Amino acid sequence: MVESFTRQSSAIFLPNERGIRPPLKWAGGKRWLVSHVKPIYERYQKQRLVEPFCGGLAVTLGLLPDKAILNDINPHAINFYNWLKRGLMIAIEMNNDEISYYRNREKFNQLILAGAQDSRAAAELFYYLNRTGYNGLCRFNKKGLFNVPFGKYKNINYKRDFRDYKNAFFDWHFTLGDFELLDVTAKDFIYADPPYDVEFTQYAQEGFNWEDQERLARWLASHRGQVVVSNQATERIISLYEKHKFQIEILDAPRMISCTGDRTKAKEILAYRNI
Ligand SMILES: C[S@@+](CC[C@H](N)C(=O)[O-])C[C@H]1O[C@@H](n2cnc3c(N)ncnc32)[C@H](O)[C@@H]1O
Repeated sequence: MVESFTRQSSAIFLPNERGIRPPLKWAGGKRWLVSHVKPIYERYQKQRLVEPFCGGLAVTLGLLPDKAILNDINPHAINFYNWLKRGLMIAIEMNNDEISYYRNREKFNQLILAGAQDSRAAAELFYYLNRTGYNGLCRFNKKGLFNVPFGKYKNINYKRDFRDYKNAFFDWHFTLGDFELLDVTAKDFIYADPPYDVEFTQYAQEGFNWEDQERLARWLASHRGQVVVSNQATERIISLYEKHKFQIEILDAPRMISCTGDRTKAKEILAYRNI
């Protein structure tokens, strides 16, 4: 990491050693898991961290590895991070009103159609849409166009100057694609946070189905270095990782099992190998 990157000099650090503030909102963000993964990773801090499903970077920015490979299948998040690496300053106007929102959504979709989704303009618009759209969702229609509606937030604190992230991201490499295409070595520490296994619904989360969960467990089990994986603690996920000889810990997630008044905490699995 470069020398000028100190906790004192940067406004992006969270209080109480909780790492750096994630720049995007992200469904399934695992900030609450940092306190469980950090004591494990600290023993291997010199090793490169590989996150095949980096999403909103909540865990990476909590662990603050010196070296990392951060991968996701979402091209817009990866493009945004690559622009943060270059020290992004957002130039576009950012207004929290419906007319501006739909105008910017249209501009973003025009960039996608023109094949310019890795442009700086796309990165700026993606940040604006992520902050201003409904629940920070990232959803696309069948044509691949962003279709999240306006979020109706009262107040939004837009950030323009992302230069602080440049130092943190100095030795982090962002890659785009399916997890299995990652080039890992036996010295890498993998933390994997795939889309949740949802046992009883017809639709897999983010197109990640049961075969993908099995493919992931096999890929992780073949890694000769350290592996930590989190997921929803469904019965079949527990058996899958038991079958691949992972050690298993079940945690209470900070969310409830249902939104219908049932106060039971949802269960999350942390599974480890070679730790
Ligand atoms: C639960 S989220 C990760 C959240 C992240 N740990 C955080 O704290 O913000 C799962 C991520 O997996 C990505 N994803 C889905 N299928 C994938 C695949 N086949 N390969 C790589 N990434 C994938 C999604 O885009 C999503 O960002």
